[in-house]
Amino acid sequence: MRKILITGGAGFIGSHVVRKFVNKYPDYAIVNLDKLTYAGNLANLTDIEDKPNYTFIKADITDAIEINELFKRENFDAVIHLAAESHVDRSITDPSAFVMTNVIGTVNLLNAAREYWKGKYDEKRFYHVSTDEVYGALGESGMFTETTAYDPHSPYSASKASSDHFVRAYHDTYGLDIVISNCSNNYGSHHFPEKLIPLAINNIKNNKPVPVYGKGENVRDWLWVEDHARAIDVIFHQAKSGQTYNIGGHNEWKNIDLIHLLCSIMDKKLGRDPGESAKLITFVVDRAGHDLRYAIDSAKLQNELDWVPSLQFEEGLEKTVAWYLDNEEWLTNVTTGNYQAYYDKQYKGR
Ligand code: NAD
Ligand code: TYD
Repeated sequence: MRKILITGGAGFIGSHVVRKFVNKYPDYAIVNLDKLTYAGNLANLTDIEDKPNYTFIKADITDAIEINELFKRENFDAVIHLAAESHVDRSITDPSAFVMTNVIGTVNLLNAAREYWKGKYDEKRFYHVSTDEVYGALGESGMFTETTAYDPHSPYSASKASSDHFVRAYHDTYGLDIVISNCSNNYGSHHFPEKLIPLAINNIKNNKPVPVYGKGENVRDWLWVEDHARAIDVIFHQAKSGQTYNIGGHNEWKNIDLIHLLCSIMDKKLGRDPGESAKLITFVVDRAGHDLRYAIDSAKLQNELDWVPSLQFEEGLEKTVAWYLDNEEWLTNVTTGNYQAYYDKQYKGR
């Protein structure tokens, strides 16, 4: 049996990765480690929480002592590291939390792997999940490839870039088996409603203004979160040590066009007159240092490991809207803060 530590498994992407691994690999032991910050929600995993190959551990990756004890005790075969502070706007308000979790937390995990995997580096694997934002911003043309120079602009992307460099340094210096993937913007179910798509869905539903930063001209390359989880599965199992893969949807949208598409889907789903939801669009002051455009060239992943995105954006967005409308309780619990009691209810004393 392979024992795999997945960090950040109670978050948006992490919960999709945990679900995929628990369901697809019944002979793996999947350990989900999460601090349960505001972004961690164990109700994301109710469908698998009782499976025999799944365990949850509440822990903080910034606590080196706790992380070392865990590695000493558990004899993990691999780490898939997603735990992070992930929201650019929060990083502008409070960069320190991003340095602590994204940089120090990652280094703590690397140190534990380096120490407790000694003599067995070729049997173990450290998979670091990262973002395309480390490459900085594109102009009107071009795409990020795996060889694009790092040029992060926000405190969030600077912290992720730093953690990527540390992961590579532990490969080059100590010989740890590592892989890194840098992915574009994800969308789908269980996405915390502070990010553009779930925030807009929630606001449209509640007839509240939909804030569009600047003129809405910024471009993002959107990927269905389950396609990201599938890419992680493929890369984790097939990539050679030391490799980096870009993951993206070949699906660029200007924010304002995306919001108009979302409004028209919401009009249909909520039985509103066409154009009704779009009246909620409100242009607000731009984000500081707002990157103009991201676009990922994922040819390496497609050619070497045969991964392609599975879903057209319109279909994925409709599915996402349907999920939020069908899971009103999830959304209410998240927006009221009730979800934070889930751990105490389900896990304390287990
Ligand atoms: P998220 O904010 O939804 O989830 C992050 C999870 O990490 C939460 O469950 C949180 O409780 C946990 N966490 C935070 N600090 C922790 C700590 N100190 N110790 C232990 N757990 C902690 O984030 P997400 O959107 O699911 O992103 C997951 C990973 O994927 C991140 O590393 C992010 O940089 C990367 N990524 C995200 C996107 C995206 O579009 N969301 C795109 C590319 C890469
Ligand atoms: P976001 O979902 O925060 O992801 P990221 O900053 O990591 O790309 O934002 C996506 C885009 O939407 C980004 O260009 C900022 C913009 N945006 C808005 O226009 N309004 C909002 O309320 C938010 C949260 C984001």
